[in-house]
Amino acid sequence: MKAMEWLGDRLKVLDQTKIPKKEAYLELSRYQDIASAIVGLKIRGAPAIGVAVGYGLALGALKIKAETQDDFRHELKAISHALAATRPTARNLPQALERMEKVAEKDEDVEQLKQALVAEAVKIHSEEAEATLKLSQLGAALIKDGSTVLTHCNTGALATAGYGTALGVIRQAHEQGKKLKVLATETRPLLQGARITAWELKEAKIPFTLITDSMAGYFISQGDIDCVIVGADRIALNGDTANKIGTYTLAVLAKEHGIPFYVAAPLTTIDPALASGAEIPIEQRSPDEVTHIQGVAIAPAGIEAANPAFDVTPHPLITAIITESGIIREPFGDGIKKILGSG
Ligand code: MRU
Repeated sequence: MKAMEWLGDRLKVLDQTKIPKKEAYLELSRYQDIASAIVGLKIRGAPAIGVAVGYGLALGALKIKAETQDDFRHELKAISHALAATRPTARNLPQALERMEKVAEKDEDVEQLKQALVAEAVKIHSEEAEATLKLSQLGAALIKDGSTVLTHCNTGALATAGYGTALGVIRQAHEQGKKLKVLATETRPLLQGARITAWELKEAKIPFTLITDSMAGYFISQGDIDCVIVGADRIALNGDTANKIGTYTLAVLAKEHGIPFYVAAPLTTIDPALASGAEIPIEQRSPDEVTHIQGVAIAPAGIEAANPAFDVTPHPLITAIITESGIIREPFGDGIKKILGSG
């Protein structure tokens, strides 16, 4: 099963909104299709949306009719803005676009620039896949044989267009022969845990139990959990981490009960421009996602509902951040600077 595949003039993606009911693939040939697939969460997960906007910009570039470099770059900039506006929290998205725009600055003719942009998008994809495999291999060392691990949201192959972040670490530990049990939270409101993580764990034959988000405190207080591991959408320079709503609650619970709380993410998720998590933009989604489950109303009509899609976990609650270049611990500021400097 491939989450995302470049077919030369279009991108084939597994529609994540259809999992687990069916494995439906979409073939997207316009940047607008990629933008709406990201807004509609058909493509989701920070590394996966980074990879997708790279391909989106390449597709947009291929269709530009301009003949001069300046006109070409001008149109490309507008496409990049449209792709950047799809979702605000994941750092991987602007990171990939900035990288693509740099390629378009090369002093080459328009046709060469188009080919260079396609090549760069493919490179972003393969590097991201490699990074998530590497960080999963490094992170697996933190997971003890016989342990029970709690994870939140979906951070596997589908969310990364590669191997996975938190779920990648779990999968690596399992592939290394460690006996593990996983507790996966359902992840309200959009159920990425119940729909996608449960599907990926089942496919990988990793023993797991699905719980509602509100059961986490019960299981942690019973002493049933050895560690919590999650992914990240954006990490500030001091280690503060934005991830799926509910992550902060899990980090507070882990601290209270003295169990490790790990964050797994590629370096493309770290934002070198942000000093702390207070500066991370948090996506506010439609209240309909809270008042409805898969289109069915579960609350009275016309009420108010809030829907922040992410929260920020302050770095003192984080035991370690697992990246492809190494595992970072407090003081996170120094560790992050060192890793970014050497990367
Ligand atoms: O709103 P989503 O489903 O895109 O949110 C995804 C997450 O919060 C993941 O934990 C995150 O992107 C990290 S790893 C893929």
